[in-house]
Amino acid sequence: MKKILLAATAICLTSGPVLAADPDTGKELYDEVQIERTYQGEHRTDIDCETCHDTDFFTRNDRKATTYAKLEAMVEGCNTNLDVGWFPEDVADVAAYMNREFYQFTPAE
Ligand code: HEC
Repeated sequence: MKKILLAATAICLTSGPVLAADPDTGKELYDEVQIERTYQGEHRTDIDCETCHDTDFFTRNDRKATTYAKLEAMVEGCNTNLDVGWFPEDVADVAAYMNREFYQFTPAE
């Protein structure tokens, strides 16, 4: 329910074709996510993004996301593969947060 309200708010606040990604909302989503899945043979309900990759992974030299667009695509990839359930605007917010925190691309890249 909370998720639906958040998404509705995001849609209402967004005007025009450009999504105004909000890194602060992205930080909340990133910090609060709890994914349910089997991990290393164990059923868990508390998996978060850093269960699989701690933050060093995002700043390593041969990271996969080499542009802002690729970063957003990688966030969307994990969102889809893991059934996180983030809406496109949530993914945009998380990408904005991860960019501010770790990647530091200029958004047009
Ligand atoms: C079950 C393990 C797992 C979880 C949980 C997970 N990821 Fe990933 N993630 C991966 C793997 C594996 C890759 C590397 C994919 C590849 O090499 O193509 C990856 C890659 C990434 C990358 C690209 C890193 C780079 O090289 O630049 C980003 C960004 C990312 N994940 C974001 C997230 C976010 C955000 C979450 C939390 C919702 C998340 N991931 C949760 C397994 C996971």
